Amino acid sequence: MKILVVGSGGREHALCWKLSQSPKVETILCAPGNGGTAQMGTNIPIKDDDIPALVAYAKQESVDLVVAGPELPLVLGLENALIKEGIPCFGPSAFAANLEGSKAFSKNVMHEAGVPTADFRVFDEFENARAFIEEKGAPIVVKADGLAAGKGVVVAKTKEEAIEAVEEMMVKKAFNSAGDRVVIEEALSGEEASFLAFCDGENYALLPSSQDHKAVGEGDTGPNTGGMGAYSPAPILPESQYEETAELVIRPILKLLASKGEPFKGILYAGLMYTKNGPSVLEYNVRFGDPECQPLLMRLESDLVDIMLACIEGRLNEVEVKVRSETACGVVMAADGYPGAYPKGMEITGLEDADAMNGVKAFQAGTKLVDGKIVTSGGRVLCVTALGKNLAEAREKAYQAVDKIHFDKSYFRRDIGNKGLNR
Ligand code: AMP
Ligand code: GLY
Repeated sequence: MKILVVGSGGREHALCWKLSQSPKVETILCAPGNGGTAQMGTNIPIKDDDIPALVAYAKQESVDLVVAGPELPLVLGLENALIKEGIPCFGPSAFAANLEGSKAFSKNVMHEAGVPTADFRVFDEFENARAFIEEKGAPIVVKADGLAAGKGVVVAKTKEEAIEAVEEMMVKKAFNSAGDRVVIEEALSGEEASFLAFCDGENYALLPSSQDHKAVGEGDTGPNTGGMGAYSPAPILPESQYEETAELVIRPILKLLASKGEPFKGILYAGLMYTKNGPSVLEYNVRFGDPECQPLLMRLESDLVDIMLACIEGRLNEVEVKVRSETACGVVMAADGYPGAYPKGMEITGLEDADAMNGVKAFQAGTKLVDGKIVTSGGRVLCVTALGKNLAEAREKAYQAVDKIHFDKSYFRRDIGNKGLNR
């Protein structure tokens, strides 16, 4: 098979790495890809949001399967456009992708499906939103309705902060039209976990729990990033609770969307918060998380192509999603300054030494291959991921591998996995 992976992050390198292990796969293409995917296959210079170019390329090259890494192409209708051309695509339709593409849609679906989530209201007028915040008080959470590159959520400690956030979104248009509508919701507190399931429109097959580290600084301090590290499983969501949790947060969504004639196929990712009243869904994503994908795929034993085809063809009940019992831990190495401004173009050394360690893979994110050398080209540069018999061992190995890798101005958190160890 010829497989085209869309995207350019650590998640996409991990997808290419895992897909290439399938005996069914002959060629891996990645658009636009990074230094890691260039070493696994061929990078194609098409951006992830250029749907007509992606479809034309897949058609011209007789691609057998397109795998969407990020949400943007899905929200823009990549799956719909490929299906029209008879090309299988792993990932939901544009309608179903609205679970991530529109916070208002997502909250309304959760409400209708009876999924536990924070109380919320949707606003299209700034003055009404302001009045609601004045009435409710703080803490309160403001969310831009549309995609805002992970920056559209403000957990406000004061009324003033919340009103300012709404003004940025609705009046100053910080996220363009993505902020024309806002969701304002109750602030919850508790530990977070990610819970992902393969879905075929009707059935689900669960991946183990995982946990991201969103803040840039140790002890979860400083601004939020795309994620500074992840591990799986997350002890806060033990295996004994997977089925029960899926019946609470995955099944009702599949049922509701199927009843609307818009079945959900692909990865449904529930971002959970464990409040004193139990798990509550903060958000759904419609794709693998980055960096959660990296430890999750290190643990996946089954053939990923078989699972993806089963999702597309509505026969997930026929395949097994087998997962290694080991723990996986991934540490993100970033360029100093991220998520603000950061330097680029530093040469990375030691990747081979890290990859040579047993059960270790240094997945590349913001990198590119230049004259045979891997250099940095983004904020999140690597996600160095290791398997171990428990979290302590996986973490130890991941940090040993990090020590073998060098680039100027590198930054990483030293406390990835601490929450899991301390439980
Ligand atoms: P989201 O983009 O919806 O995942 O939100 C980003 C982050 O904002 C989450 O991972 C939480 O840490 C936080 N967050 C979102 N919604 C709430 C809420 N209702 N209460 C408290 N924190 C929240
Ligand atoms: N790691 C969080 C996300 O991918 O949205």
